[in-house]
Amino acid sequence: MIKMIYDGDPGIDDALAILLATKSEVLDLEAVTTVAGNVNLEKATKNALRILELAGRLDIPVAAGMPSPLVRELQSAEYVHGEDGLGGTYLPLPVTQDKCIGAIDLIIAKIMKTTGEITLVACGPLTNLAEVYGKQPEIGENVREIIIMGGAISVPGNITPHAEFNVHTDPESAKIIFQSDLPVTLVPLDVTLKTLLTNDNIEEIREAGTPVTDFAHRVLKYSLNFSGHKKLGGCPIHDPLAVGVAIDKGFVKTKKLYVNVVTDNIVTLGKTLASENNTGQFEDCKSKLNVCLDVDARRFVRFFIDTIISK
Ligand code: BDR
Ligand code: CA
Repeated sequence: MIKMIYDGDPGIDDALAILLATKSEVLDLEAVTTVAGNVNLEKATKNALRILELAGRLDIPVAAGMPSPLVRELQSAEYVHGEDGLGGTYLPLPVTQDKCIGAIDLIIAKIMKTTGEITLVACGPLTNLAEVYGKQPEIGENVREIIIMGGAISVPGNITPHAEFNVHTDPESAKIIFQSDLPVTLVPLDVTLKTLLTNDNIEEIREAGTPVTDFAHRVLKYSLNFSGHKKLGGCPIHDPLAVGVAIDKGFVKTKKLYVNVVTDNIVTLGKTLASENNTGQFEDCKSKLNVCLDVDARRFVRFFIDTIISK
């Protein structure tokens, strides 16, 4: 079993990523930590608890992290994810509470008491990760790997023409993490925009008729109606792909690249720049990231559906 911590901002696709992780036969979800992003921290934390209750996994701890990006104001995305962050499904309010220990301390404690066992999957703005790295710079020696959904290397952004949402929301934190020596695999829009669930896929999920698939069907229908997704012809399952990469590297093809983030230009803010050489604007980058540039989308979509509908 692969031990995993999921850090994110649920969020429709985060919710699906958490469900995928709880249903996976090879992942052992150790904790869910939350960060402000798609919705504010309070909603994100409530939603993480709601999802784990839906999955019948009240044993998994939830801890709240940073309430706003490092230096900027949060610009959340209810217009994509709905007022509740979960496509207007308003799942019952959670009966469990988040842990008193904060996300930063929980991530550090869990990773530092093991050696190379825990995979950290981060699918929101990277504020919690930047805090973890600032407080415990040796974290890279103990973590198995860090898989991050974020960035757009050779495709346009989804929040601006230049930038992807998670990186654009907290570009300063993303810069810290991408320039660090941490063992990062980056899952950018280049691959996640290829993993689309069509209306037929969503209907197949509905037919399974479990509480989890009823919920997945409702949020995916909501997501399919978002204008940006209508244009794509399907719902991109960004965050579930990052969990998929934690399960099976064979879903993607990667290239080792230095990655930097634009933080000083209002037009291109949050743009991810990539290079094979650490010269010029990459000279502060300590190590190359494993950047996913291609994906076996058919196989991943099939895997996602089969896992979500499994009893
Ligand atoms: C990312 O931004 C969020 O809206 C999604 O949850 C995903 O993590 C995609 O750009
Ligand atoms: Ca997310």
